[in-house]
Amino acid sequence: MSLPKTVRLVEVGPRDGLQGESQTIPLAAKLQLIDDLTHAGHSYIEAGSFVNPKWVPQMAESEQVFNRIERRPGVRYCALTPNLQGFERALAVGADEVAIFAVASETFSHKNINCSIEESLVRFREVMEAAQQHNIPVRGYVSCVLGCPYEGEVSSQNVAEVTAKLFDMGCYEVSLGDTIGVGNAGSMERLLRVLLARFNPDQLAVHCHDTYGQALSNILIALQHGIHTIDASVAGLGGCPYAPGASGNVATEDVIYMLHGMGIATGIDLELLIAAGSRISATLGRTNASAVARARLAKR
Ligand code: HMG
Ligand code: MG
Repeated sequence: MSLPKTVRLVEVGPRDGLQGESQTIPLAAKLQLIDDLTHAGHSYIEAGSFVNPKWVPQMAESEQVFNRIERRPGVRYCALTPNLQGFERALAVGADEVAIFAVASETFSHKNINCSIEESLVRFREVMEAAQQHNIPVRGYVSCVLGCPYEGEVSSQNVAEVTAKLFDMGCYEVSLGDTIGVGNAGSMERLLRVLLARFNPDQLAVHCHDTYGQALSNILIALQHGIHTIDASVAGLGGCPYAPGASGNVATEDVIYMLHGMGIATGIDLELLIAAGSRISATLGRTNASAVARARLAKR
């Protein structure tokens, strides 16, 4: 099995990371975070979310975020869009890409987006058609691929079915979300065997939360299968508002440290990234969840 030579990092900190914070985060802090991540060398940043602001108040000012960040040419600034209304908001502020987010568990779908899996796919099809008219690429997510906070085990076949529907409607990539971070090297391996029997590793990404401290080993399994797009959140920010107890995504700093150690290029400057994570952690008064950042900062 040959490992990828380069990895594309999808930085989800400004969206997945900040969406669950209950404290008020000043707009300036969100802008600073995204600008710091751009400066650190990220090529893909999920900068906001055009969902119902009553459901996720922290993302309510995503328009202002998109309007005021410093956009570096070549960097893609993306947003979650659950429906056509969300897509139109994203389009109005020039999001480079949008993401639709389905789930492999019926109960989670109702809790997260207030509709069944099938109903969500109908809404997503509308987003897709509008996006195609405007030449905007659409990324797909499938959440709860290794477990659901409400239903427990999730069948890999269900994950594959939902993934197939997202590809059929035109997503260029599907990110497999271990939303509650319960996966391990064994369950990730079993899931990927099912998925890679139907899809190419170039089409898939992994989105590992680190609740059980297994995210890096799960990512390593994905790399060994040739998957070369990894979602991560600076300073391990986050959690999901509809997945109680789930911690943030794997910290981007920890992923970068591992990848660079393996000789895999990412284009990201680890020291600048640590500075970005350190700044937002201080602003939020939050312990930095990156072990690599904590170790480096302790030495200074
Ligand atoms: P709903 O309440 O069922 O929507 O929400 P509705 O269509 O019945 O509309 C109700 C109200 O919402 C109306 O306003 C609409 O205008 C408004 P009202 O007339 O009451 O004043 N509305 C909107 N407003 C702004 N932007 C919109 C929008 N849509 C409707 N786009 C909806 C349905 C999906 C919108 C809602 O359930 C929602 O916003 N959910 C948010 C879910 C969310 O953001 N979850 C977290 C992200 S997913 C995640 O983190 C997982 C992931 O990271 C992967 C992983 O970790 O595995 C991606
Ligand atoms: Mg997530």
